Amino acid sequence: MSDVAAPQDAPEPVLAIAIDGPAASGKGTLARRLARHYGLRHLDTGLTYRAVAARLLEEDLPLDDEATAEAAARTLDLGALDRARLAQHHIGEAASKVAVMPGVRRALVDKQRAFAAAPPGAVLDGRDIGTVVCPEAAVKLYVTASAEVRAVRRFREITDGGGAADYEAVLADIRRRDARDMGRADSPLRPAADAHLLDTSEMDIEAAFMAACRLIDAALAARSGT
Ligand code: C5P
Repeated sequence: MSDVAAPQDAPEPVLAIAIDGPAASGKGTLARRLARHYGLRHLDTGLTYRAVAARLLEEDLPLDDEATAEAAARTLDLGALDRARLAQHHIGEAASKVAVMPGVRRALVDKQRAFAAAPPGAVLDGRDIGTVVCPEAAVKLYVTASAEVRAVRRFREITDGGGAADYEAVLADIRRRDARDMGRADSPLRPAADAHLLDTSEMDIEAAFMAACRLIDAALAARSGT
């Protein structure tokens, strides 16, 4: 008997792609398309923070009590994230408040890492994927756009859906969320040292997708030495 593992016993390689960026940068749409293109699973980690906040709001529990929020995070089921319900604006605001709590982050990061580690791998999008959740990701993208461009996109999203919005209020909101996400002590939003920057201010989703594929294909080719 040889003690060298036969090739069929080798573990299936797991591919992780990390996509980070600020609110309304387009990273979610991009991450979903990339997951489909590369045959990977996808997790929008923002939904995990939103789900914790939604649970606290629903049960009339305080948003600023770390033990309560951490308990909600520990019992979260990643398979039961309802995007349509969690997309509501006030849930996003509440999410960025519970996201400053280290206990909540630890609980959610554990679940996010387990998701990323399952074969064949995954695209995860969020704020701290390249820096904290998957520091060993094969490829890291930091997707950004100016606050004004992101505010126009968010404004159009709301008004195209038949809602009413005030551009200046949307812009102020985006700036407030950026300040909270970039200024917190635990896992602030910032590009990982080895992240590729993708500024989509002047790109539509198609151009952003093509640019992301080029970066990912080049990184994968360099990794496999081809
Ligand atoms: O991306 P989305 O707007 O759904 O995220 C909601 C909030 O969750 C963000 O403003 C941020 O505070 C928090 N978040 C985070 N880390 C992540 C994903 C989201 O802190 N990886």
